[in-house]
Amino acid sequence: MSQKATIEIEGKKYELPVIKGTENELAIDIKTLRSATGGVITIDPGFKNTGSCESAITFLNGEEGILRYRGYSIEELAEKADFLEVAFLLIFGELPTKEQLEKFDTDIKANAHVDEDVKKIIDGFPKAAHPMGVLSSLTSALVAFNPSSVNVDSEEEMYNAIVRIMGKFPVLTAWTYRKHSGLPLDYGDSSLGYVENFIKMMFKKPADEYKSNKVVLDALDKLLILHADHEQNCSTSTVRIVGSSHAGLFVSLSAGINALWGPLHGGANQAVIEMLEAIEEDGGDTKKYMAKAKDKNDPFRLMGFGHRVYKNFDPRAKIIKKSADNVLGDLGIEDPILDIAKGLEKEALEDSYFVDRKLYPNVDFYSGIIYRALGIPTEMFTPMFALGRLPGWIAQWREMRLNKEPIGRPRQIYIGEQKRPFKKIKDR
Ligand code: CMC
Repeated sequence: MSQKATIEIEGKKYELPVIKGTENELAIDIKTLRSATGGVITIDPGFKNTGSCESAITFLNGEEGILRYRGYSIEELAEKADFLEVAFLLIFGELPTKEQLEKFDTDIKANAHVDEDVKKIIDGFPKAAHPMGVLSSLTSALVAFNPSSVNVDSEEEMYNAIVRIMGKFPVLTAWTYRKHSGLPLDYGDSSLGYVENFIKMMFKKPADEYKSNKVVLDALDKLLILHADHEQNCSTSTVRIVGSSHAGLFVSLSAGINALWGPLHGGANQAVIEMLEAIEEDGGDTKKYMAKAKDKNDPFRLMGFGHRVYKNFDPRAKIIKKSADNVLGDLGIEDPILDIAKGLEKEALEDSYFVDRKLYPNVDFYSGIIYRALGIPTEMFTPMFALGRLPGWIAQWREMRLNKEPIGRPRQIYIGEQKRPFKKIKDR
């Protein structure tokens, strides 16, 4: 029997339907609230209790630390699938057959070229520009070179737009890095797989031959899979809301990149390493920084700790922590920062401030340590997150358009001045 929720406002009762998801999550459907009550709305800053859509892409249960893409557990996907398979799964709903995967790969490669004039735009940026700003600008700029808007009712046009951005985005990410590092821009090698070609585009030195390293490849593939989607987070909600105005795919993605940049979201991976480096430089006293994090008069937060949704543990952090150990072990790197990270984690897990608030290490706490071990500079960490999140953003944008969702336009409760007469400048 379908459930109902009853609310009482100023002595009058209203019944609202309750909907249930496939994992038995409940939501009060308030679509009719405003019209039924003559203007009452709900208020929920930060959308802590608000579902913005129904989605069939990613399930996560923060209390139990569960994350699944299209029903498949993140642990199994990180272990058994590669990034391109996961991208296909997220975007189109099913794991690809061998033929589908080959076609996806071939079509992406056929669309990987970036107009030569884009290089002029890259040249216009100062070398020290933050790569996230450059990447979001370049993603927007793609519209100028591929101006046709996507007819979302055409599967073919939608598919073409998807393979186009899947092809060009790694090139733009690698070029952003190469510009930052003063290296010539390079297209890599289309005979390589998606992630390996990306690594080659990033790291190939002009006069050296590129040598593949399986440890690096596996670690990066896993990291990208773990970042590939996370339901309605800040950047994904941004992509959906921008796209809901029927803005195109590329500009919606560009907006998502900007949202990801913030240190409370994807920018945390850079902030974590900067924090760990600062602690090391300051003598490695983790207790001092624990105290700062707990001091309400100090703005310092333990970066890489806490999550809006995970209140038990972040399943991605568990996988990444293991991967960080493997990568550092295999590459023979001893990083004092890893010891500081482990020390902080141990202290936080035993500290009542963090335990009571259910603050655990999140995905970003260990990912930076792996990126560092792979020789990726700190400012490129968040672009790496963006590369991983790309298929998730695309999948969510596509779902939003196919579901014909209305334009996103929240309401507000006005708390400003009531109507008052205009004051002439001499009377102010
Ligand atoms: N260090 C110290 N205290 C913290 C931290 C932290 N990292 N995170 C939350 N708190 C405290 C906060 O001060 C508050 O305390 P009180 O109840 O006494 O006022 C309480 O915990 C709840 O925090 P909140 O800010 O209301 O929680 P939120 O759900 O709005 O924020 C968060 C979640 C991730 C923004 C926050 O935990 C944070 O700023 N963490 C550090 C940044 C970070 O690592 N972000 C990456 C998130 S994972 C990658 C991604 O998917 O984006």
